[in-house]
Amino acid sequence: MSFTKDARDIIDQLSVYLHQSRSKEKRAVNLQTIRHIQEHLGLEQYLCDGGLSGETLNRFVETYLGFTTRLHHPGFMAHQVGVPHPTGALASLIDGFTNNAMAIYEMGPAASAIEFFLINTLLTKIGWVPMPDDITQRLETDHGAGVLTHGGSLANLTALLAARNQLAPEAREGGTPGNLVILAPESSHYIISKSAGIIGVGEKNVVPLPTDDLGRIITEKLDAIYEKIRSQGKQVVALVANACATGTGLYDDLNAIGTFCSDRRIWFHIDGAHGACALFSKKMRPLLHGVEKADSIVLDAHKMLRTPLLCAALLLKNARPLDCNFEHTASYLFHDKLQPGFDFIGQTIECTKAGLGLKFYFTLAALGEKGISQYLEQTQALTLNAHEFISKAPDFDCPYVPQSNILCFRITGSDDLQLEIRDRLMALGHYHISSTMLKDRRYLRIVIISPDTRFEDIEQLIQEVRKLAHTAENKEI
Ligand SMILES: Cc1ncc(COP(=O)(O)O)c(C=O)c1O
Repeated sequence: MSFTKDARDIIDQLSVYLHQSRSKEKRAVNLQTIRHIQEHLGLEQYLCDGGLSGETLNRFVETYLGFTTRLHHPGFMAHQVGVPHPTGALASLIDGFTNNAMAIYEMGPAASAIEFFLINTLLTKIGWVPMPDDITQRLETDHGAGVLTHGGSLANLTALLAARNQLAPEAREGGTPGNLVILAPESSHYIISKSAGIIGVGEKNVVPLPTDDLGRIITEKLDAIYEKIRSQGKQVVALVANACATGTGLYDDLNAIGTFCSDRRIWFHIDGAHGACALFSKKMRPLLHGVEKADSIVLDAHKMLRTPLLCAALLLKNARPLDCNFEHTASYLFHDKLQPGFDFIGQTIECTKAGLGLKFYFTLAALGEKGISQYLEQTQALTLNAHEFISKAPDFDCPYVPQSNILCFRITGSDDLQLEIRDRLMALGHYHISSTMLKDRRYLRIVIISPDTRFEDIEQLIQEVRKLAHTAENKEI
C-alpha cells in the first residue's frame, strides 16, 4: 500500500518546511492570485483524472507548501494563530485518520477521555471544582463543566447562549424577550456582538461599557451604567470582559469586575481566547487575578498554547447551565444506554465533533507545563523588550506598555502610511505583521508568537519599516 510511503514523503517534506521556515530560508508570506495558485497546483487536472498519490502527491504538497503562510518563520508576527508544535500536528493526523466523532462516547472513547481530562485540568487551574469521573454523580453536587469546540467564536457563542438560557429559560422554545442586553466594551472581539445577533438579543442591544482610551473597562463607572440599564427595564444576560483584548493584548481588571457581577448576580463572562493561557504561567497568572469569580471563560488552545487549529475550551463554573443548554430530541442519539463514559454532545452546538483534545494534549505533553510556561514568558519578555526599544526611537510611538505578546506602534506619518508600509512588507514577505485602529488612529501591530523570533528580528523589522516609510515619503514628493 502506498499510504506508508506517501506519509513518509509528506513528513519528510514537512521537516524540510519546518527547517526552511525557522531558518528564514523561505519567506514568511507569499501572496499570489487565486488563479496563479490554482494553475500551479493543477487543481482541474487532478479533479478530473484522480490519481493523487506517490510522485504526483509529493509534487502537489511541495507546491502547496510553497504558497502557505509560514507560521514557524520568526518574521510571522501578524495574527493570533498558534505556531503549531510538530507533535501536536501529528495528533491532527491521527485525529483525521481515526475520524472519531466523539460527541457521543461510543464514537470516540479515547478522545472523550482526553477531553474530560483536559477540561478538568483547566477547571482546576482556574480554581473551580472539576467534573466527577463517575458520570452517575454528575450534577449531584456543585461542580464545573466545559467542552472543547471549534474555535473561540463558537465557544463565546455557546457561553452567551448558556447565559441567556439561564436568565430567560423560556427563550429557547418561545423566543427571546425584547428587553435583554449584553454589556461589553467596544474593544471586545466582534464575536460578542455577532453572538448577540445569533442568540436573539440583537447586536444593537450590546451596551458598550465605559472604557479608557486603550479600551479597558473603567470599573468605577460600571454601577452607573448598570443602574441606567435597570431603570430602562432591561435585563442583563452577561457582562463580558477581555483577557486580553484582541487589538491591544491588554487585560481588564477581572477581580473588580467579578466582584461587581457577583454582588448583582450578573453572569460574568471572560473572553480569554488569547490571554487565558496565563493559567499556564506562574509569572503571568496575576494578569488573571479574579478569574475564579467568572461564570464562564473561553480559552483558545490554538492561539498561545501552540495547538494546531482548531481547539478552544469553554469552561463554566457551574455545570447546570451548560448541561441544560442543548438537550434535544434525536431518538437515534439521545436515549438511555449502558455506557461507561460521557456524551459531550449535550454541551455543544456541534453534532459531529472532532476529537480536539488529542492535539491539545500532545502539545502540552510534548512541551510539559514547564515548557509551555517558558514559551509564554519568553514571548511576553520579548514583547516588553520590543516595546522598550521601539518607544525609545524618536520617530516611533508606542501607545502603551504591553501586558501580553501583542504590541502596537506607529511610525511618524499618516494612517495611510502605516497601511502602505504593511502592504509593502507583505509584498516583500520577510515579515508578516498586522495593523489595528486605536484611539482613532491606525497602528501597526505585532503578535510575538513564534518561539524562534528574537530581538534581532524586531530590530530588523523596525529598520525595514523606517526604510519603507522613507521610500513611501519620497514617492509622495
Ligand atoms: C479575544 C478573542 N476572542 C475571540 C476570538 C475568536 O476566536 P476564533 O478565531 O478561535 O474563533 C479571538 C480571535 O482572535 C480573540 O482574540
